[in-house]
Amino acid sequence: MSRLLMCRPDYFGIEYEINPWMRISNASNPTTCQAQWQALVHVLEEDIGVKVEYIEPVHGLPDLVFTANAGIVARGKAVPSRFRHPERRREEQYFEQWFERHGYEVVRLDPDLYFEGAGDLLGFADVWFGGYRQRSDVRAYTVLTEIFHKEILPLELINPKFYHLDTCFCPLSGGDVLYFPGAFDSYAQTVIEARIESTRRVPVPSVEAERFACNAVCVGRHVVLPTGCPETTKLLEGKGYLPHQLELDEFLKAGGSAKCLTLALD
Ligand code: ARG
Repeated sequence: MSRLLMCRPDYFGIEYEINPWMRISNASNPTTCQAQWQALVHVLEEDIGVKVEYIEPVHGLPDLVFTANAGIVARGKAVPSRFRHPERRREEQYFEQWFERHGYEVVRLDPDLYFEGAGDLLGFADVWFGGYRQRSDVRAYTVLTEIFHKEILPLELINPKFYHLDTCFCPLSGGDVLYFPGAFDSYAQTVIEARIESTRRVPVPSVEAERFACNAVCVGRHVVLPTGCPETTKLLEGKGYLPHQLELDEFLKAGGSAKCLTLALD
């Protein structure tokens, strides 16, 4: 059974602006947030059979709901994030504590090495991909390769709207990848093309990329993605996946969607 870490959006809100999606004037509606987040939990638990684990929300930390940024977890080891923006740095201690209390071997990076967890590091069993430049430092991946004994291919992100790798790149269980080529520099595009064969690459249209089509949660054949992505949904069905479309617009106001709201624990 897949396990995912999530955080109730009790204190979620747009309280600062650290990516182009966030505007303090574009406030989120607390009731709608709770409903959208509960619907996500419901689909994950009831329709897909995921086990959801929870971290307590903390007053004053509106982005703690984006547990993908807690760190990266694999084979019992957890490497907590080191956030680039001071606004999110106070989250680090809570995520670290959660990992410690839940029996993970916590491996810490140097405090001056920025790394934003599973928001920027994702992949397949044999190879991982690490987004850098906007949030995480490319140097983090040399260290993470040693910690996890995994090959990690760094990919440079050049578009401020797609500031984390999980906003524009989503490895799927069948070896396919949903991605938005325009988010990457040309060398990163070459790396993706060299490493993932063409029949496995699923480019999404830019309007849907901007709806966070790539910010999807894939568990087995199930893929949870935001509404407003009809083309991506068709592409997924064509490849034998079972898409679940969910309205997550309140979280889009902070620059996040389905994937950002979860952290894979195994
Ligand atoms: N407001 C948050 C930030 O800018 C959103 C994080 C979204 N998380 C993600 N994994 N893409 O840091």
